[in-house]
Amino acid sequence: MRSSRQAALVALAMPLIMVLIIMLTRLPDVDAQRARQAGPGGLSAKFRGNNCVTCHATISEPLALSAHFYQWRGSRHEAAGIGCDKCHGGDPQAKQAAAAHRGVAPPAQPTGSLHRQNQSATCGACHREVTEAFVQSEHYRQLRNSAEGPVCATCHGHMASAVIYWPPETAKLCASCHRSGTDSAGLPARAQDLISAFTRADEILEWGGFLIESNPGRRAQLRAEIDDLTRLKTTLSEAKREFHRFNLEASRTSADRVFTDGYRLKEAIWKKIPSRRSHQGNRSEPTRDQTERQ
Ligand code: HEC
Ligand code: HEC
Ligand code: HEC
Ligand code: HEC
Ligand code: HEC
Repeated sequence: MRSSRQAALVALAMPLIMVLIIMLTRLPDVDAQRARQAGPGGLSAKFRGNNCVTCHATISEPLALSAHFYQWRGSRHEAAGIGCDKCHGGDPQAKQAAAAHRGVAPPAQPTGSLHRQNQSATCGACHREVTEAFVQSEHYRQLRNSAEGPVCATCHGHMASAVIYWPPETAKLCASCHRSGTDSAGLPARAQDLISAFTRADEILEWGGFLIESNPGRRAQLRAEIDDLTRLKTTLSEAKREFHRFNLEASRTSADRVFTDGYRLKEAIWKKIPSRRSHQGNRSEPTRDQTERQ
């Protein structure tokens, strides 16, 4: 009985969740999609005249090269208009491959922009605060001295726009160097917990944001909560930057504080949203009961 009710609830909730996911992933992207449709090969108009992008869009062999193009395609960097040349160097104006590739070096070449020892500077040109934290870490010292230790792409992957590790994978990554039986044996488990703490804090803020967005008519009344949400997002972002110093305790303390404060904030917003009973007639504004069912 109970499990069939649960199954029914899941069946009921799934389409709503799917619609929500589609809305969340599509809405802000309408302009980008239109722009893409305008360009060659569905590329954003932002890259018209960037020959790295337009030529690589036409290459399907060798597989590894093509795969790198598609990793970039759809990444945060593509969305932000960051072409290949911004990380790899070279001349995006040149039409011939040989001329364009002048200055593009394989990552293994010590003078190349993506070599382990130069990567922080290349990414740091745009991600200043994260990189400032990273270069103060023990990892960076190791990197300078022995070219050992994780670099930006170790955790962010090729094209570097997401964190590619979920918590247990993070622990595995750390454990690949911080092995059991050494001083730093406890690090992987602590890192795993920290990533979970980031995720939990992310989720609670997203929830708060969702409640605010689904009640557009209440924005004036929710002004204080909207400000608090912005502040908490900034704190979480700072904690994530701090992570790059690998001061796990400090990041964990901040992430947990964001979660606790975020939870309270979500409750406060919840209280200000009318329940359906008191707002029978108003259908245009999703009510507490409707959001509750989602
Ligand atoms: C006219 C087409 C064309 C243009 C323009 C072009 N490429 Fe390429 N690129 C290729 C081809 C073909 C290959 C594979 C064969 C080779 O290495 O030349 C390649 C290979 C690469 C590789 C892999 C190198 C390797 O040895 O595996 C990188 C990285 C790269 N290109 C980056 C760039 C960047 C950055 C730009 C712009 C500054 C650019 N490309 C412009 C066609 C192009
Ligand atoms: C945000 C920075 C960034 C952008 C933008 C970017 N790449 Fe990369 N790319 C990287 C990093 C980092 C690596 C991995 C280096 C390593 O292995 O340490 C990489 C690796 C590669 C490789 C394999 C290594 C090599 O040189 O053979 C290819 C090929 C490549 N990228 C092609 C491209 C192409 C084509 C574009 C544009 C469509 C592009 N990249 C855009 C950062 C970037
Ligand atoms: C030319 C500037 C530029 C360079 C170089 C660059 N990035 Fe970015 N990066 C951006 C922009 C702009 C965004 C999009 C920010 C946003 O969506 O809020 C971004 C997004 C990201 C994100 C996602 C951030 C988030 O908020 O989730 C990561 C991670 C990232 N970059 C890592 C890297 C790494 C690693 C490198 C070097 C291999 C690199 N970037 C090189 C400009 C750059
Ligand atoms: C040991 C793994 C690791 C390394 C090395 C690493 N990062 Fe990160 N990075 C993370 C994690 C974990 C987060 C937080 C992810 C999350 O939950 O959103 C993050 C977040 C980010 C963000 C988003 C920050 C924000 O405000 O939300 C950027 C940008 C970024 N990293 C860039 C870099 C750059 C540039 C480098 C190299 C100088 C680098 N990272 C090295 C793991 C790493
Ligand atoms: C590619 C190897 C490598 C990876 C992967 C790696 N580290 Fe390290 N790490 C080192 C080296 C080398 C040192 C310096 C020697 C030492 O203290 O063990 C170090 C030092 C540290 C230190 C400072 C020393 C200490 O014991 O307090 C912290 C903290 C740290 N790492 C955390 C992490 C975390 C968290 C991860 C996973 C997200 C990670 N590391 C992944 C190589 C690595």
